[in-house]
Amino acid sequence: MAKDKTLYTCNECATTSPRWLGKCPGCGAWNTLIESVPEAGRGKNRLSGAGQYAGLAQAQAVMPLAAIEASEVARTASGIEELDRVLGGGVVEGGVVLIGGDPGIGKSTLLLQAMDALHRVGLPTLYVTGEESGAQVALRSRRLGLEGSQVSVLAEIQLEKILATIEATQPAVAVIDSIQTVYSDQLTSAPGSVAQVRECAAHLTRLAKATGIAVILVGHVTKEGALAGPRVLEHMVDTVLYFEGDTHSSFRLVRAIKNRFGAVNEIGVFAMTERGLKGVANPSAIFLSQHSEPVPGSCVLVTLEGTRPLLVEIQALVDGGGPSPRRLSVGLERDRLAMLLAVLHRHAGVACADQDVFVNAVGGVRISEPAADLAAMLAITSSLRGRALPKGFIAFGEVGLAGEVRPAPRGQERLKEAAKLGFTMAVVPKANAPKKPIPGLEIHAVERVDEAMAAVR
Ligand code: TYD
Ligand code: MG
Repeated sequence: MAKDKTLYTCNECATTSPRWLGKCPGCGAWNTLIESVPEAGRGKNRLSGAGQYAGLAQAQAVMPLAAIEASEVARTASGIEELDRVLGGGVVEGGVVLIGGDPGIGKSTLLLQAMDALHRVGLPTLYVTGEESGAQVALRSRRLGLEGSQVSVLAEIQLEKILATIEATQPAVAVIDSIQTVYSDQLTSAPGSVAQVRECAAHLTRLAKATGIAVILVGHVTKEGALAGPRVLEHMVDTVLYFEGDTHSSFRLVRAIKNRFGAVNEIGVFAMTERGLKGVANPSAIFLSQHSEPVPGSCVLVTLEGTRPLLVEIQALVDGGGPSPRRLSVGLERDRLAMLLAVLHRHAGVACADQDVFVNAVGGVRISEPAADLAAMLAITSSLRGRALPKGFIAFGEVGLAGEVRPAPRGQERLKEAAKLGFTMAVVPKANAPKKPIPGLEIHAVERVDEAMAAVR
C-alpha cells in the first residue's frame, strides 16, 4: 500500500496535502506541491514549551573545534589526469558527485573509462546503467579498448534493488547512469520527475555517507534547463561537474562548479576520439578557429579557467536588424551583452541600437568571467565597422558602467601564455600592463573603453 503514504508538500511554505493541487492551500503559490514520502513519526510529538526534547532523545556530547582532529579526506586518483584535476585530486571516500551535461556529450563514456581506471588502481567499482543493457555497455567497453575490464555492471532502474545491490557487493565507487532513469516504489510519480529524482538521489547520498562508498550520479540537462534536471540536486551533493562543449566538435570541457573537496571553476579538457575521451594536457589553443588572414568580427580572448589560461576566439556579427533588433549570445551571458552594448554606445560612440547583434564563443565554451568584456566589445566594434583587428591580436579586461576598463586577475600569466602561442599585440587594462616587457608582445594598456576601441581602425 505504498500509495497511501504519499504526501504532497509545498516547496514554499511546507504545507502538506494528501492530493496534488495546482494551488497551495497554505500560501496560495501555484505549482509548488511536490510529491514526497513522509518520514516515520514525522508530525507526531508536536513540541511546545521548555524541556520537551529531553524525553525524545539523549543529549549528545559536544567538543571544541580545536580538539577535533582535522583528518584529510581519503581520495584515490583514477590516473585520468584531467578528471582527477576537476575532482580536486581524485575520488573521495563517501563523496557524492553529480556529473551533468547534454545527452550524447560523453558522460557514460568518461565514467566507464574512469571506473575501469579506478578498478585498475585497486578500487572495486560498480556501474549501474538504466539507459543501456549490459550488452551495450560491454560493446562500448570493447570500443574503448577496455578488454578484460573487471568493472561490475548492473542494468537496473529500481532504487530499492540498486541500494540493496550496492550494500551487498560493497564497491568502493558506484556510478548511477543516469539518476533520471531511477525510480522508487515509494512514489507514484514517473521516473525523471522532480520528486523521483530528488528522493532517489537523497537515498543514494545517505547510503554514500553511511558506508563510505563514493557515488557518482549522472544527470542529463534537459533542453528547458532546470526542471527535473540535475540542478535540483546540486545542493545535496558534494561535487557538481558539468560537461561543456559542442557535440559537433571533438573537444569537451568538464567544469567543477561546486566542490567540497577541491577548487571550483577548475576545468578538465578532453578530446573525443575513436577510442573514447582522451585528456588534453595543453589545452590553451584549442578554441581558436583558423583564419589565414584576420577577419572582421573576431577577437581572441585570454581567459583563465581554473589554474590554466585558455585562448578563446570571440566572434560577433552585427547586421542591419528590423524594428526590434535581436541580441543573441552563445557562451557569454546575454544580460552582460546588453550592458556592453549600452556602454559601447555611451562611452565609445559605437551605436548598435538598430542592429542585430550575435556573439559567440568558439568551440562551445561557456565564459562567465567579466574579463571577456573587452574582447566581446572589440569583436562587436570590428564587425560593425567591417574592419579586422590586427594579426596576432588578443585582449582581456572587465568593463564598468562608467566606461572604465578594470584589471583581470593574473594578467601576467595570461599575457605570457599569449606570447608563447605567437600572439604579438595585446590590449589590456592599465593595471595589467607588465612592468618588464614581454618579448614579442606589443602591449597597449588602456584605462577607458574608447581608447581600447581605437584598436579597430
Ligand atoms: P555518451 O558517453 O554515450 O554520452 P552521454 O552518456 O553523455 O549521453 O557519448 C556518446 C557519444 O560519443 C556518441 O555520439 C558517440 C561518441 N563516442 C565516440 O566518439 N568515441 C567513443 O569511443 C565512444 C564510446 C563514443
Ligand atoms: Mg549516457
